[in-house]
Amino acid sequence: MQQITASIASVRELGSAYFFIEACCPHIAKHARPGHFINVRCGSVLLRRPLAIFSVDGSSIGIFFKAQGKGTSWLAQRRAGEEIDILGPLGKGLFDENNAKRVILVAGGVGLAPLYFYLKYNFHSGAKKILFYGARNANTIFFQNELIDMTDECFFVTEDGSLGEKGLVNEELRRYFLTYSPQDGDLIMTCGPNAMIKEIISFAESENIPCQVSLESYMGCGCGVCLSCVIPAENPEQAGESYFRLCTEGPVVDSKKIDKQKFFNMV
Ligand SMILES: Cc1cc2nc3c(=O)[nH]c(=O)nc-3n(C[C@H](O)[C@H](O)[C@H](O)COP(=O)(O)OP(=O)(O)OC[C@H]3O[C@@H](n4cnc5c(N)ncnc54)[C@H](O)[C@@H]3O)c2cc1C
Ligand code: FES
Repeated sequence: MQQITASIASVRELGSAYFFIEACCPHIAKHARPGHFINVRCGSVLLRRPLAIFSVDGSSIGIFFKAQGKGTSWLAQRRAGEEIDILGPLGKGLFDENNAKRVILVAGGVGLAPLYFYLKYNFHSGAKKILFYGARNANTIFFQNELIDMTDECFFVTEDGSLGEKGLVNEELRRYFLTYSPQDGDLIMTCGPNAMIKEIISFAESENIPCQVSLESYMGCGCGVCLSCVIPAENPEQAGESYFRLCTEGPVVDSKKIDKQKFFNMV
């Protein structure tokens, strides 16, 4: 992990307050793997803001985000040629195909970011890739053509039915498995809002499908010091350690590692 002053190569406003920024930072680009994130200083906002690495192109990395509050709105107003202060690559728990034969990816909103990187990074791996990507409406589904190209099957799901199937992405996942039963070698990877993740984990565990989850929590340092990102652990590895730090042990973890009851009551 390094602290880097990165020069912004481009800023694309994708619409509906979603943005894609590319920044030149050779060290992070070289070491980035799917699941890694960066922690960005956003002007005078006190704490850095964590964002998943979405793509790597040569010596640049891409981030895909929604301007939600002070930090991400500041970021959205940057222009090409300006510099940003970032820490990265951060995180040790990453998406790992683990010899899976079929990887089922479930993305909600900006939760697409680390899964997009996984698809790009593992484009030539042997696993079959099936993506379920859900958003509010057609205006908030992005990168459609690239996603279709990088997957064997790709399902878009919108809450209002303006693109793809109407409903919630977790409902679409369940519908899919009514027709195509789970198989040995299936693996689910997911990232998105907590309500969606809760449903996906519940489905995966009920069907005995291993499930890797990229979680979100409030973060401070991003590197294991401040404890602001702790998540309740299901089976503490050592007595007394009933929480784990998402920034260092995650952000991608096996669903079985999370104490679901405590975590989903907390958020
Ligand atoms: C490992 C990790 C990777 C992430 N990757 C992305 C990404 O690729 N794209 C993206 O758009 N967002 C991502 N996020 C969420 C992003 O960090 C928050 O949206 C951001 O910190 C909000 O900051 P803000 O100052 O704009 O908003 P604030 O004013 O701080 O808050 C605005 C809203 O966002 C919520 N929020 C604030 N911080 C977080 C947080 N850390 N996690 C979840 N919700 C938060 C608040 O509860 C509030 O509802 C990621 C979070 C983590 C932990
Ligand atoms: S963000 Fe500081 S310990 Fe995780």
